[in-house]
Parts: sequence; structure tokens; C-alpha cells
Amino acid sequence: MSEFLNGFKRTHTCGALRAEDVDKVVRLMGWVQDYRNLGGFLFIVLRDRYGVTQVRVDADSPLYAQAAKVRAEWCIGVEGVVLSRGKDANKKLATGDIEVEMRELRIFNASETTPFAIHDDVDAAEALRLKYRYIDLRRPCLNRNIVLRSQITRVIRRVLESHDFLDLETPVLGKSTPEGARDYLVPSRVQPGKFYALPQSPQLFKQLYMCAGFDRYYQIARCFRDEDLRLDRQPEFTQIDMEMSFIDPEDIQAICEEMISTIFAEILGIHLPRPFKRMTWDEAMDRYGVDAPDIRFGMELHDVSDIVRKSEFKVFSSVLSEPKGTVRAICVPASVKLSRKDIASLEEVAKTYGAKGLAWTKVEKSTLEGGIAKFLTPLEIDGLLKTFAPEEGSTLLFVSDRLNVARNALGRVRKEIAVRNAWVPKLMRSVEDVGLVWITDFPMFEWSDEDNRWYAMHHPFTAPRPGDWDKFDSGELDKVYAMAYDLVLNGIELGGGSIRIHNIQNQQKVFKALGIGEDEARAKFSFLLDALSFGAPPHGGLAFGLDRMVMLLTGADSLRDVIAFPKTNKAADLMTEAPSGVDPKQLDELCISSNVSDD
Ligand code: AMO
Ligand code: AMP
Repeated sequence: MSEFLNGFKRTHTCGALRAEDVDKVVRLMGWVQDYRNLGGFLFIVLRDRYGVTQVRVDADSPLYAQAAKVRAEWCIGVEGVVLSRGKDANKKLATGDIEVEMRELRIFNASETTPFAIHDDVDAAEALRLKYRYIDLRRPCLNRNIVLRSQITRVIRRVLESHDFLDLETPVLGKSTPEGARDYLVPSRVQPGKFYALPQSPQLFKQLYMCAGFDRYYQIARCFRDEDLRLDRQPEFTQIDMEMSFIDPEDIQAICEEMISTIFAEILGIHLPRPFKRMTWDEAMDRYGVDAPDIRFGMELHDVSDIVRKSEFKVFSSVLSEPKGTVRAICVPASVKLSRKDIASLEEVAKTYGAKGLAWTKVEKSTLEGGIAKFLTPLEIDGLLKTFAPEEGSTLLFVSDRLNVARNALGRVRKEIAVRNAWVPKLMRSVEDVGLVWITDFPMFEWSDEDNRWYAMHHPFTAPRPGDWDKFDSGELDKVYAMAYDLVLNGIELGGGSIRIHNIQNQQKVFKALGIGEDEARAKFSFLLDALSFGAPPHGGLAFGLDRMVMLLTGADSLRDVIAFPKTNKAADLMTEAPSGVDPKQLDELCISSNVSDD
């Protein structure tokens, strides 16, 4: 095995050769996907990231003995002549019209037997695949996702640069900022007892770029959040982060729409109508119960409080006697047959989101039967039938609770029914499969009962709608709406942003509303407050989650399938075994001691 190619150079990739190339002498390099010894001749299927090509060695070839030793995942180079496969062409393969007759073989490296087969439908445990991720990434489906990820960022850069955006970097070792999640901390060696925080997003730095006059910024930026992980969350993820000066929300939204439409057209061949749909947060919550609604199907929520206000069903009437009590309902179409067991499992979903139960009844013989029907008066039944105009065999599902809980729990049940009944395809093939909507006018603040204080729903640098400032003075913080917007794709938040506060007095007003006093604000954000006081321009921006975008575009089930080297839901890298214990000397240098023993 030679360490050098010695001029043995690749002429084509394994995905390139076609019928027109017959008779050419070519050199291919790659990995042995498959080999078959048929006695009279030997086939090797050679794979690289572009595709596969069949290589043939006849038994009377002087290379036969050497070629017969080759095994799966050996890395080899082949020189040969392109032959037509004639009537034996494999139509399923891009290179299926040809094969390459070997006339020189270079074995670059042998391979141990891999811990699992390199096929799309491999059934190896995910933990094993993550441990040998570099092998896992050879599988065509994962390989395709990673390549697609790069194609997407290429489009993003092209579109943004055509609009004069500058690709600017921001520091990774920074100061802890309040963006909702827990920070990853990095101890300082030269200043013992002090810590940097890894950025949850480049939010403040991109605003400072605007203050510095750079006008249009973007960055494909790594962000770090120490939060509980789910399939659509990773501790380390990538944002397409943008900021612009002198704009209204519509300006940045238009650029984002161009970017997303170009991605859809070039990657999926789907042409999206523009402008995208828009819906206020209030409307989204009312109709779908959640702020990231999947708008590809109906089954919208209805407020039936007025119909059942005096109901004998105490679950309803007692909740409705409370100030924020409400009863919301959806009508599940007859095509979805819901057994008692199905309803019980949907009730579990509702309960996960805080509901106390999920009441139901069915539409039979033009009236309501079963479940809570026995508690309903003819007038109430009539009201419900008028609201939903349901077909025979439909099921009505109800949650009564405080507004937030009722909407959210029923919204989740709505989503779950769609998933269970495969109403919505994973992979988008046509424009009907794409549910894109801007959610606008988010509330500025949300109240936490637990902490007995207001939190910024987006972040504390978001500007309220200009007409809402007087509500700060009257203390009606629940009525303040923000100039914030999210782009939602198929029920998943793809990105979010806002117009920012660019005036120091206003920024202080918001800090005050959040219970951040002047001293604390100075201690945490003096650099921002200073910057705002030196002629900061009006500005705003947005960040998309790149990983989520790739997940949705590839139809992958998890972010782990679109990140080359992801973390598990314990935030571990099974391949490098990070996080790990460190040498006590390292801790000494940092003046840190651990009270947990390393096992
Ligand atoms: P936000 O916190 O909404 O906004 O984040 C923007 C987008 O980043 C993605 N995202 C994640 N993706 C994977 N794993 C995670 N743990 C994760 N957390 C967030 C989502 C989300 O929509 N600075 C603001 C943006 C701005 O105002 O310009 C910010 O970070 O797709
Ligand atoms: P219970 O009176 O608790 O046995 O509940 C009777 C029915 O009402 C069950 O189907 C419960 O799931 C449902 N239920 C209970 N609480 C609620 C609620 N807050 N909203 C909707 N349905 C509920």
C-alpha cells in the first residue's frame, strides 16, 4: 500500500459516468460498497459522495487475484475502460448504463469489518452509529443531508450577499446574557473565579455592528444553550443570523422570503408564492392554540365558552366562573375513528400540557351522543352543532381551563391527531406540503406565576409597537405587543426576530418593566446602553435555525440526522466522549475544584 498517489489522479467521480463516456479510460476513487464474485467475473460497486459505479474484473484478467481480496469499505482507486452495459443497464442508477472494466487497481487502505452495514435502512442502534459517526456518515441518506446542508448555506450566502450583507464574525468567549436558556460557562485562567459564557446567540454583538455603522450583517453562527434537549433542540446549534439598519419589519421579511423561496426552488424544486402568509400571535393562539401552528390542515379551535357557560357539566361551568376560564373545542372529522382508547391517549397528551382532562362527545343522528352529551341541554347541543356544522360520526373534543392552558393543550391534541393520521407528509414534495406563515405582533411580556415577575417573550432588546409605550406608564404590561415576528414552517419555528430598541430611555423602560434596576442594567449591559447613547440607528433583524431548516427540507426526524457530529439528549458526544473529566492540574490552574468524582 503506497502512501502516495504518485500521479494516479481521479478523472471522474463515482456519480459521473454515462453512456456518452463509453470507451474512455477513467480513474475513480472511493470505497467498496459491495463486491460480488460470480466465478467468471467479479463486480465491485465503488462509492463516493457523488454516487456509485460498477467496476468489473474478468476471471482471466491479471488483476483478478488481487481484486478478489478486496472487501467492503476498503478504500481503493481503479483505472479502467468504460463499457456499455447494454440490455443489462440498471435504470435505477444514474451510472447504470455503464460499467468500468478494471485495468489497474490501487488499494489505498483496507478496512476492518464495520460495526454496521453502510445502507440507508441499517437497523443498528443510534448509540452505536454515533460512536462510529464517520462510518455512519458514509451512509447515502446521512451523506445527502450533510451535502444538502452545505448547498443551503451556499444559497443563503448568495442571496444575502446580493443584498449587500456583510459576513461578520462575533466573539465566542463572551459575557453571560439573559436570553432565556442556561449559559455554557468557560472559566478564565488568568482571572481566577471569573467566567466567560458561550453565546446563546450573537444578539448584542450584531446590534453593536449596527451601532458601528455596518448596516447589513449576517453570520452563520454557532450558538450554545444548556437546555433540556428534544428532537428539535441541540445544545450547540447553528443560526443564520441577520441584522439590518433603517428598516421596517417588512423589509427584513422580504429578504427572508427571497432567501427561503430560493432555497425551496433550488433544493426542492418547489416554487413558493410570495409574500408569505401573515397571522398575528393572537389569531394563531385563537385558531390553533399554539404560536407555531401547522396551517396545512384545519380542525381549528373554537371558543365555546358562551354556549356552555351555565352547563350542568361542572368541569365547564366552574372553570368559566373564574376570571380567565375558557372552554375551547375542536371537531375531529368522521374519517378519524376515535375509540375510547384513542381518546384516553389524547387525554394524556392534553395532560402533558397542563390540562386536567379532555372531554368528548360524538355526532350521531344529527345530535350529540356519548361522553359529556348527557350533561348538555338541547340549547347547548344546538349551539355546538351550529358552531361546528359537523358531519355524522365526528368527535368534539373540549378542554376547559385558564386561557393559556386550554388553548395550548388543545392545540397539541390537534397536532397529535394530524401526526397519528398521517395528514401531513414529512417530506415536502409540492407547494401544498408547505405551511409557511409569519406570526407577528407577539406580546412583549409574559407573566411567570412561579417567579412572580414579567419576562420578555422574545428578548429584552425587542421594541414594542410604537403606540404601546403609554401602557408601560399605566402598568398594563399584558397589553403591550412587540414588533417581533417568527417564521413558522409546518408547525415548527424556523426563525424569529424583531425590531430593536435603539434609544436608551426606551431600553431602560423595558429593563425596568422586567424588574432589572438601573444599577443591574448598568452592571450587565453598560456597553449596550453606552452604544445606544452614541447615535444608534433604528435597526432590526432575525435568526433562522439552520439545523431545523435542514431537518424540515430533508424530512429528517431529528436534528441529529442533519448535524454531522451531534450530541445525544444527555448532551454527550459518544464518539469523542465529551464531556469528560479533566486532569486535576487543569482544574488547579483554573482555581476550580469539583465536588463530583469522575466515574
Ligand atoms: P431565538 O432564540 O428565537 O432568537 O433563536 C432563533 C432560531 O434558532 C433556532 N434554535 C434552535 N435550534 C436548535 N437547537 C436549539 N436549542 C435552538 N434554539 C433556537 C430556532 C429559532 O427560531 N437573537 C434572537 C434572534 C433575533 O432576535 O434576531 C434569537 O436567538 O429555529
Ligand atoms: P371527571 O369528572 O374528572 O371524571 O371528568 C369527566 C370527563 O371530563 C373526563 O372525560 C375528563 O377527561 C373530562 N375533564 C375533566 N376535567 C376537564 C377539563 N378541565 N377540561 C376538559 N375536560 C375535562
